[in-house]
Amino acid sequence: MEKNLKVLGIESSCDETGVALVQVQGRALPTLLADALYSQIEMHQAYGGVVPELASRDHIRRVLPLTEQVLAASGQTLADVDVVAFTRGPGLAGALLVGAGVACALGAALNKPVLGMHHLEGHLLSPFLSADPPEFPFVALLVSGGHTQLMRVDGVGRYTLLGETIDDAAGEAFDKSAKLLGLSYPGGPALSKLAEAGDPTAFKLPRPLLHSGNLDFSFSGLKTAVMVQAKKLAAVQGGVVSALPAIVLANLAASTQAAIVEVLVKKSLTALTQTGLNRLVVAGGVGANRMLREQLNAACAKRRVRVHYPELHLCTDNGAMIAMAAAMRLQAGQQTASKVYAFDVKPRWPLDLL
Ligand code: KG4
Ligand code: ZN
Repeated sequence: MEKNLKVLGIESSCDETGVALVQVQGRALPTLLADALYSQIEMHQAYGGVVPELASRDHIRRVLPLTEQVLAASGQTLADVDVVAFTRGPGLAGALLVGAGVACALGAALNKPVLGMHHLEGHLLSPFLSADPPEFPFVALLVSGGHTQLMRVDGVGRYTLLGETIDDAAGEAFDKSAKLLGLSYPGGPALSKLAEAGDPTAFKLPRPLLHSGNLDFSFSGLKTAVMVQAKKLAAVQGGVVSALPAIVLANLAASTQAAIVEVLVKKSLTALTQTGLNRLVVAGGVGANRMLREQLNAACAKRRVRVHYPELHLCTDNGAMIAMAAAMRLQAGQQTASKVYAFDVKPRWPLDLL
């Protein structure tokens, strides 16, 4: 691999179009030159969730203007790009095809190689873009809208799955519970905001698999428990959950968040004990949750475990993490970019099969 490279990264797996330019210089940790993001959240809010066809169409509209924005902000031109990386999966097939198609078209036009990246590897390596980057090896808690996994990470591309959800992801538990409480999509930030005014011990909600002894998660029962509880409370006053008194809704939100956070914290600590590692990296959208951060910080401080997070704005989907993961893979010699522009995408793609 050449010593110095500029890697353009394109993320389009779900409802955020992200583009970024990362620079590799020798063996030093790659650095972010510029990034730009367009979130489609407002568009999907009207439907209560992501509409895949609308997401794909919007990625088409956004990706080239965002690329121009990144190049302008970094003072570079397309001719300065050495490698074009894109999210190959997992994600929405149509949305992924937009990023892959644009990346391969750019690569072909510029005669530069392309590299298809794993979205979760992007999340996993995103804390390396922070001011306090981790060192290998570490335990990673990957908590996004579609995934909840604990991984042992020994280096770039060296990932061992320790445990994962057997049904809903943590982000999904936030989103689905929020919807039941009448909150808008995406539910995670909305539910945690509502929870600030509530009592986390007000309702006894299940902590699925808390004492299972393994590192797997299950969140689908929690959503059902929230629904049963909310309907029971609402039944006495016409059955409309969102019309419950504000304090009741806040208590339900706080109790839901507390249940999710307790399981995530407990399992992360168990993973650290089982692996004997003393470093934890949290990544993915739910990693932005304040209660999760506070409780992990407190628990890890007690055990002299260092905990690392991505910058808040890089917790949710973005192009920087894709450009960074590609840069780190190329630098580590894990992968080479190729000038084969016939692309495919992998809507389902387990990270440990990478
Ligand atoms: O990583 P991400 O942006 O997309 C996926 O790859 O899925 O994660 C999105 C998920 C959503 O479920 C969203 O509700 C959740 O992250 N999320 C949060 C917070 N911010 C985003 N969940 C809890 N608290 C937050 N502050
Ligand atoms: Zn994501």
